[in-house]
Amino acid sequence: MNVHPKYPIWLPVFLRKGWSLGRKINKVVPELLTEEQMKQLDGVEGHTTFGQCVTLFYLAYTSAKIPGRIVEIGSFKGKSTCWMAKAMQLAHSNEKIVAIDPHINTRQIGVVPAYKEESSFDIFLSNLRNAGVIEYVEPIKMASVDAAKSWNQPIKLLFVDGSHVYDDVMLDLETWEPWVDTGGIIVMHDTKPTGPRIEVRQAMVDYIVRSGRFTNLLQLKNMACFTKNV
Ligand SMILES: C[S@@+](CC[C@H](N)C(=O)[O-])C[C@H]1O[C@@H](n2cnc3c(N)ncnc32)[C@H](O)[C@@H]1O
Repeated sequence: MNVHPKYPIWLPVFLRKGWSLGRKINKVVPELLTEEQMKQLDGVEGHTTFGQCVTLFYLAYTSAKIPGRIVEIGSFKGKSTCWMAKAMQLAHSNEKIVAIDPHINTRQIGVVPAYKEESSFDIFLSNLRNAGVIEYVEPIKMASVDAAKSWNQPIKLLFVDGSHVYDDVMLDLETWEPWVDTGGIIVMHDTKPTGPRIEVRQAMVDYIVRSGRFTNLLQLKNMACFTKNV
């Protein structure tokens, strides 16, 4: 991992942005989803919190009419996927979320918490079915770097939550970010500045923040959203 002593990984000013969007999300999402629907979606096993999922839902919903694809790197059992796919359904969209994950249990400590199944794929599909959103999802059962080899479509919303190893996150950004349209959004999960997943934040600082090409849209405790300017 490439450490830059001059650049603190903790950027407090940078983190303070996005309150007005946060307030908007809190107002709009309960108008779109019933408490029952929110409970059901929140009941899907996963590594994203309620607040993070609500944010992803809002971003997917508000981008539904914009051309381009929504791509998720790292679906696991489909929690974040279900929330974004529900947004597509409620927006009467004709498009599908592209959900990339090899669904192989690598048991790599620090990459994804241990789980007992050999693959998350069957549970992922069954969670999508139970949420009634399977037709809004296009699963790609591959590692992101392999899926990128044949990718050729513009992206309006990219959610990065695959491998949490610094070099892998950098590779995800290097291979997928060029497909994100100007004005498109990149969301990165596990960006908090402490703890075992610090490598994600370092990659975010190195690739996104230092480039000067992105505007900070919203920062949650452990998820960061940016708009691409150029
Ligand atoms: C933290 S989990 C994703 C959590 C999910 N977004 C949720 O809402 O619960 C990380 C996932 O990334 C997947 N993954 C790991 N390396 C990957 C890669 N190179 N490309 C795509 N997915 C990868 C793992 O299989 C795992 O399911």
